[in-house]
Amino acid sequence: MRPLWVSIAGVASILAWLCIALGDTQKIEEGRKRYHARCDLCHAERGSGTFMLKRRLGKNGSVLEQRNDLTASYIRLACRTGIGSMPSLTRVELPDGELDLIILYLTRPASERDQPSSSNGGRHE
Ligand code: HEC
Repeated sequence: MRPLWVSIAGVASILAWLCIALGDTQKIEEGRKRYHARCDLCHAERGSGTFMLKRRLGKNGSVLEQRNDLTASYIRLACRTGIGSMPSLTRVELPDGELDLIILYLTRPASERDQPSSSNGGRHE
């Protein structure tokens, strides 16, 4: 028989791993909600941000939620200093904690995200 402490350590590490995995999933879900609340206005399928980015980057770069190339520092820079016709968002308008969650969401692989909420209302056709 294995010593008891080996089993305890095993169970503890599995539990710890589960907590981290669940914590991340929850944070990403929070980020998704915040993104839709704060950025959809301009970055949903028909928003002005999507429109401007389509002109600059083409269709594939236009919807932020479908991109795989956004880095945390670039998103932070765009939000805090503004970019082109996107206004800067202050810490009062968008607290750091919320921006961190949005960044976590937007830097996940796009395949793990939903399609933009406004495109077909979440329906699969
Ligand atoms: C008032 C409208 C508006 C809101 C709200 C807004 N954006 Fe933007 N955003 C824009 C526009 C317009 C552009 C395109 C700027 C340009 O190229 O001229 C843009 C561009 C960006 C870019 C640069 C993409 C690139 O490839 O260069 C990032 C990143 C970005 N927005 C992130 C965000 C995030 C995250 C939020 C929510 C916290 C947000 N934006 C909210 C209007 C907005």
